[in-house]
Amino acid sequence: MEAKLKQANISKEEALKLRENFKTNYLETWAKLAKENIFFKEEFTEILDDSSKPEYKWFLNGKTNISYNCLDIHLPDKAEKTALIFEDEAGNSEHISYKELHQRVIRFSAYLKDIGIKKGDRVCIYMSLCPESIIAMQACMRIGAIHSVVFAGFSAHALRDRINELEAKVLITQNGFTRKNKSIELFKAASEAILENDSVTNLLLFERMKNNNELNSRTEKLISELDIKVNLVEEEIRDNKYQDIEKLSSIEPEWLESNETSFILYTSGSTGKPKGIEHATAGYLLWTKLSSKWVFDLKDDDIYWCTADIGWITGHSYVTYGPLANGATQLIYEGAPNSPEPNRFWELIEKYKVSIFYTAPTAIRSFAQWGLEYIEKHDLSSLRLLGSVGEPIGSETWNWFYEHIGNSKCPIVDTWWQTETGGVMITSLPGAEAAKAGVAGPALPGISAEISPESLLYISKPWPSMLKGIYKNPERFHQAYWSKIEGSYLPGDLASQDEDGYISIGGRNDDVINISGHRMGTAEIETALAKSPLVSESAVVAIPHAIKGQGLVCFVILSENTSNDSEDKQKELSQKLSEHICYEIGAHARPEKIISCPALPKTRSGKVMRRLLQEIAQGKEPSGDISTLEEKSILKDLLKNI
Ligand code: WTA
Repeated sequence: MEAKLKQANISKEEALKLRENFKTNYLETWAKLAKENIFFKEEFTEILDDSSKPEYKWFLNGKTNISYNCLDIHLPDKAEKTALIFEDEAGNSEHISYKELHQRVIRFSAYLKDIGIKKGDRVCIYMSLCPESIIAMQACMRIGAIHSVVFAGFSAHALRDRINELEAKVLITQNGFTRKNKSIELFKAASEAILENDSVTNLLLFERMKNNNELNSRTEKLISELDIKVNLVEEEIRDNKYQDIEKLSSIEPEWLESNETSFILYTSGSTGKPKGIEHATAGYLLWTKLSSKWVFDLKDDDIYWCTADIGWITGHSYVTYGPLANGATQLIYEGAPNSPEPNRFWELIEKYKVSIFYTAPTAIRSFAQWGLEYIEKHDLSSLRLLGSVGEPIGSETWNWFYEHIGNSKCPIVDTWWQTETGGVMITSLPGAEAAKAGVAGPALPGISAEISPESLLYISKPWPSMLKGIYKNPERFHQAYWSKIEGSYLPGDLASQDEDGYISIGGRNDDVINISGHRMGTAEIETALAKSPLVSESAVVAIPHAIKGQGLVCFVILSENTSNDSEDKQKELSQKLSEHICYEIGAHARPEKIISCPALPKTRSGKVMRRLLQEIAQGKEPSGDISTLEEKSILKDLLKNI
């Protein structure tokens, strides 16, 4: 298995040494790594300030810039090296060198400054995975503006809530893009999201589908109806003043103190309201750079491909920042894995000779279902390392991935981490530590993962890429992560550890669920349902799903009694509510089933008994103790409706 990794970036001996160094000299080891791996304009004066826990401050008083560390530092020796290989669903492609990427980023950052964006301003990005969105993120970083990327699958409603909380000054979007051969009209949702908003001063539009006349005339009409200025970015940037690259290069990037906010990314928690996770600068940069190098064993001649979208943390840490900080060449692909055919990914791996492939279990389960015939006709021998992220992979899917994609030769890194942790926390180091099927692995060197007697995973020491807070909500930050185990960070996952120190992740311990690797809260779906006049109460549970990992089942009590309605009518109602969820959140939250019921099973104190609903949703007779159930007759009614 280690055949393809003879000289891994971290050898077995180096891994042992690193672990030893962290054990004996925790802070000094981090400091040494920071000095070796990051360009600081001004050196830090203190490694860790823990005087106001849990608001830890790393590399105090250091001044740096993330984008500078991703681009400028490579210009002396990697200017002509390809940074991004982009391909869209239709097969149009683009190669962008480090020099060109740098130029496009400085141009766009100068433009952002010209329209009045300053350090600390929030900029919302609602775009597909394409060079322009990566450039937009990097440009924000360069001028110290705080970007908040909203996954392009989120609805106008969800986008609006985020923009409003952020009080964003700018929304950057595009007219649309193609996925599964359909036009996704982002501008339409973006323009809806800023109606009745007074913080956004500019709506920036990239016309990525310039040739789509129908879409363009719809966009033009929408623009004429808006009472806000829409900037056609590409046109405006063609202005002479953005062509003098030498002059633009001489503009200093904004040097941020290590702990100033670099970006905010919303994620789901156990309440109805998503949390704006705020990350710092130097620590985040250090760990995304180091973990990319260690975990993906990035080498100069690798072609690295992470399939995550920029709308999620994986697309931040392991597309936009980590690989570029390492000067790697990476592939980015805008379309769906099965469009036009289910061989699309394998075609891309063969075409670009991808050597490192990082994807999600839900995708792997789909590949397995689509069949080997789509894989076998492609030469995947360029692959040398595989990675998985986002949900438990399970040994069956792990083995399938290992055998059919890695040809039983490539190590797999099953990486456990979260939006909040900034980078990978638990996985085996390829070339140094053997992986075990379905087991994430040991904590990475420098990461102190432990497990409580109640099987709760926790991190007992602060680490550089830890979240710095929840935007506008310090109480929730304290309460959600730091209140259960004294002095430790609690991610909310269950885990167990074997005799070798390898950690298996056992799913969540809260109401956070994972649908096709998309993190969601059941309370978020319930909040969305509550906004429908058709619903008076609801309870949402997750059930196992063969491809998506988990699927949603919503139990709803309707405002009006519909029990005498025809089956067709009831179906129509279900459909309506399903659409309502997509409208409030996005199509990725579409439930598997909506079950209307006269009442929900509750305890005497009024708490919904989710455990029972979970069993019922799977068509099982409720097992275990039901003595606390207030009205036992409810169960019969519920089972009747399944
Ligand atoms: C889950 C994604 C098992 C976990 C990077 C975590 C995983 C949540 C794994 C974070 C893995 C992520 N094995 N479970 N390798 N990776 N998870 O914030 O429940 O979108 O808490 O970050 O995904 O999801 P998030």
